[in-house]
Amino acid sequence: MTPNGFREELVVKTIQELNELIEKAREFIPYGKVASYIPALARANKKDLSVAVYLPDGRHYEAGDTSTKFTLQSISKVIVLALVLMDRGEDYVFERVGMEPTGDPFNSIAKLEKTSAGKPLNPMINAGALAVTSMIKGINVEDRFDRLMDFVRLLTGNPELSYSEEVAKSEFETAHLNRSLCFFMKEHGIITEDVEKLLDLYTKQCSIEVNCLELAKIGLVFSLNGWDPVTKQQVIPEKIAQICNTFMVTCGMYNASGEFAIKVGIPAKSGVSGGVMGAVPRRFGIGVYGPSLDEIGNSIAGIKLLELLSKHYNLSIF
Ligand code: DON
Repeated sequence: MTPNGFREELVVKTIQELNELIEKAREFIPYGKVASYIPALARANKKDLSVAVYLPDGRHYEAGDTSTKFTLQSISKVIVLALVLMDRGEDYVFERVGMEPTGDPFNSIAKLEKTSAGKPLNPMINAGALAVTSMIKGINVEDRFDRLMDFVRLLTGNPELSYSEEVAKSEFETAHLNRSLCFFMKEHGIITEDVEKLLDLYTKQCSIEVNCLELAKIGLVFSLNGWDPVTKQQVIPEKIAQICNTFMVTCGMYNASGEFAIKVGIPAKSGVSGGVMGAVPRRFGIGVYGPSLDEIGNSIAGIKLLELLSKHYNLSIF
């Protein structure tokens, strides 16, 4: 028995299985590239690949070098959406951002003009996420970011969680396309605040640092529709967690969401750091890190690993 009372041989077997799946997925690393459009991300070790799985009864399994910290990047979008839905309610949020997948790259500006006068199609693409970030309540950027940090600390269970000032600064200085998206939405009244302040908050939110296990813990809360089995609290109202899980299925992997739904079939959200958070409904949360990215901006080996995991443990919700 382990100190937690779990059968030792089961723990060893699961970790062995995870390591075997990692070795298979590793073969895909050379076909991807580390993100280079944010200078601080370009220094990631392309060969990294790790996974953590967090179960409702407290068991958690890890394989690969799971001590590596990485930034949430776009994974933050689903967390901020939950916070803002709690802050403002569904009507307010969905008057300003839609619910439809785009089939376009994450930073595309194209549909902002072609459809619905500056209203972004969904909260997972950059335009929608920027609009959602602008809805975080608070008296100034610092206060709004503190509220978000407290929420992420609550979800991970790590009160020490912080963010990378270096990544935030380097993204802030190079976020020309995101600035354009903001100005376009400001023209149409979707956002009203100062664009530089909004980008300051958004780039900080993207730079929150976690490890695989912390990411898996957040995934676990989403997988249980907002219930945290560790603290025994409903930290996100059930309806809001369901909305977030649905967006993860329809838009979580951008213009690869359809293929991901067919091959993996679980609510998941990726980020350009190489992180992917998975939420297997009522079963467990998954955190994956693999900074070598495919052309869409998703972890190339991380997606393969999730596909192998899904097949091995029969995880698809479909
Ligand atoms: O807005 C950006 O460009 C990034 N900080 C986040 C984008 C991202 O993670 C896209 N995901 N694959």
